[in-house]
Amino acid sequence: MTPATLDIHLTDEDLTAALRKDVREGLTATPKSLPPKWFYDARGSELFEQITALPEYYPTRTERALLERVVGEIAQIAQAEVLVELGAGSAAKTRLLLDALTSGGPLKKYVPQDVSVSALREAADQVAVEFPGLSVHGVVSDFTATLDNLPRGGRRMIAFLGGTIGNLIPSERAEFLSGIHEVLEPGEQLLLGAGLVIDPSILVPAYDDAAGVTAEFNRNVLHVLNARLGADFDPSRFDHVALWDAENEWIEMRLRATADMSVTIPALNLTVDFTAGEQMRTEISAKFRRETLESELATAGFTAERTWTDPDTRFALVLAERR
Ligand code: SAH
Ligand code: AVI
Repeated sequence: MTPATLDIHLTDEDLTAALRKDVREGLTATPKSLPPKWFYDARGSELFEQITALPEYYPTRTERALLERVVGEIAQIAQAEVLVELGAGSAAKTRLLLDALTSGGPLKKYVPQDVSVSALREAADQVAVEFPGLSVHGVVSDFTATLDNLPRGGRRMIAFLGGTIGNLIPSERAEFLSGIHEVLEPGEQLLLGAGLVIDPSILVPAYDDAAGVTAEFNRNVLHVLNARLGADFDPSRFDHVALWDAENEWIEMRLRATADMSVTIPALNLTVDFTAGEQMRTEISAKFRRETLESELATAGFTAERTWTDPDTRFALVLAERR
């Protein structure tokens, strides 16, 4: 077995510098907001794994069941030699793809990418053990900043699973899809997993579970600001809020201050005031309609070859070819 290699394009210092910029921008704006990528330090990645097992959180198990059903077809169409996975996390569902793409297919290399070094290292090492014939090469980077450090060569498929596409705001999403178009060659593939618009009575509990794991995940961003920037947030004084924005068709997660508070952020030489009840956006999780998804892909230069959904149409997998 050859061990997994890891390319670190984002050092700890780079991460702190990027966080400083995002926090200064986000916490001096009205209303306040923070980008969701900052949830994912080691604890945040672990909390996300716990979320995927919650009874209310249907996306992971729905996408897994869908993948189980259609991986054979995906592998047959894609004929991928290299699988690049953006925001791979623990790559739990990716095993299904790797199995299908290696058994009888030409897959030689797996490139998981993530902003979370801890999650990536563990996933890359485990995949290297489970798939000894595969070359595993992790990339630590921010997919909203650049995709230029993804490897070229071999017939590639880029997978972006879990519905993470929905965590990008619409302008970021368009830029991201065009960026993928730019790094792929004509004929190469994108496999996109996306949550679909469904009844809010199912959606909202998925983001506001009874056990409070999502609330802890949400508050984790404040722990990250404390650890990296020396801030003095008391996370227990912020309530978790998850609401369905019917106009934008996204779930919005927020943190609501339970009292007037003054928070200092020494690394930025900044004091941020919160009034009791003030809400700060920490994530959107957009849900899609099949036609919108396919037309956004078309605008970015892809042809949606196949779209599969689960029987309850909660989740879609789209296999799209770069034109
Ligand atoms: N693909 C996995 C994990 C989804 S969780 C699944 O389907 O279950 C989202 C993952 O994306 C996390 O591992 C997080 O660290 C990563 N992520 C979030 N924003 C990112 C960014 N801007 N750049 C790179 N990775 C990011
Ligand atoms: C990673 N991403 C797709 C998750 C989602 O469902 O939007 C993140 C998450 N936020 C709250 N729960 C899970």
